[in-house]
Amino acid sequence: MNILLTGGTGYIGSHTAITLHQNNHNVILYDNLTNSREETLFKIKTSLGLNLKLVIGDVLDTKTLEDTLNKYKINAVIHFAGLKSVDESITQPKKYFENNVNGTHSLIKAMKAVKVKTLIFSSSATVYGEPKYLPIDENHPKNPENPYGASKLKVENILKSLSMSDPSWKIVCLRYFNPIGSHEDVNIGDNPVGTANNLFPIILKVLKKKIKILEIFGKDYDTNDGTGIRDYIYIMDLVEGHLAALNYLKLNSGWHDVNLGTGKGYSVLEIIEKFQSVNNVIIPFKYSPRRKGDVSESYADVRKAKELLGWEARNSLDVMCKSVLKYFVLEQTSKKNVF
Ligand code: NAD
Ligand code: UD1
Repeated sequence: MNILLTGGTGYIGSHTAITLHQNNHNVILYDNLTNSREETLFKIKTSLGLNLKLVIGDVLDTKTLEDTLNKYKINAVIHFAGLKSVDESITQPKKYFENNVNGTHSLIKAMKAVKVKTLIFSSSATVYGEPKYLPIDENHPKNPENPYGASKLKVENILKSLSMSDPSWKIVCLRYFNPIGSHEDVNIGDNPVGTANNLFPIILKVLKKKIKILEIFGKDYDTNDGTGIRDYIYIMDLVEGHLAALNYLKLNSGWHDVNLGTGKGYSVLEIIEKFQSVNNVIIPFKYSPRRKGDVSESYADVRKAKELLGWEARNSLDVMCKSVLKYFVLEQTSKKNVF
């Protein structure tokens, strides 16, 4: 298939591009490079010999999108492009709605124009908000605690309505829990251009001594040790979920929402302990107040992914923590300190 990846040079997009290419799909990346670097493509080419095609463009630019869909005879789109900082979304909500929601409107318009109706959307566990019960299944109420989550939920509702109005659309909405780690053979990883907000990019900054100490946001949550619990999933498992979704859409139409997680939650303290023990490093930390927009605990009910897509996460937290350190070491040795 010819597949367009909006946001394709970003963290999840670039990893997905490699796997899709290796599964004989023809992959075109479409990205405005606001939170990623073209250098990622050189790294993929150097390490794997893959020559991925990038169109530099904005999803808000419907005309360029339409031209790209036409030019490359695209059959399916995976829509990764979006802004993803919960913190930033609280201070600049308008920016998040414009980019994430209007960006999707523009994509739908372009896809309609060229009659491409197969779409996978990158949504987030953040749409569920504070859990009413655990593990969180796909029917859990959606009450996002922050504008980023609200923008994702709005897009979900637009896509759901689209598929109700025209049942020939084939849409899988994947709700990612917390993807971490990197590809085994390429030194690409979660390396945002803007400020890092997520736990593992910040752990890397501490290792690189760009940040003196890791702040644990909140020690008074109603969890085993008072720190926040999340469902961390290895990036290459998450990527496989996209392949499974594409396969599913070969035979099925309509709108389908699916959690991608492991089903197991770890607290921030457990993560630090595991990271230190498997990698033999020290991560200094201190407690700080809770972070705005955070939920206490979040982990997935993963049954639907297994039943519908025949997919489940396979890699352990040990593998993920080792993978994060390996990326750090590769970055250090390549002497390209881009953090
Ligand atoms: P990322 O920031 O690394 O990648 C997103 C890419 O989209 C970037 O390369 C950025 O330059 C591009 N982009 C943003 N706005 C664009 C626009 N208007 N036009 C064209 N390109 C644009 O993020 P990621 O971690 O790879 O996340 C990918 C998707 O998955 C996002 O939609 C994100 O909200 C979602 N998601 C991520 C996580 C996570 O923890 N990483 C969790 C849940 C959901
Ligand atoms: C959230 C969303 C996720 C979303 C992602 C995008 C939820 C459940 N998850 O991830 O779906 O797409 O944002 O950015 O809403 N932490 C610290 N110190 C730090 C950084 C993080 O203690 O310096 C803690 C957080 O408080 C949290 C955990 O580590 O308990 C994970 O945080 P992070 O990696 O930022 O991910 P989420 O906020 O869960």
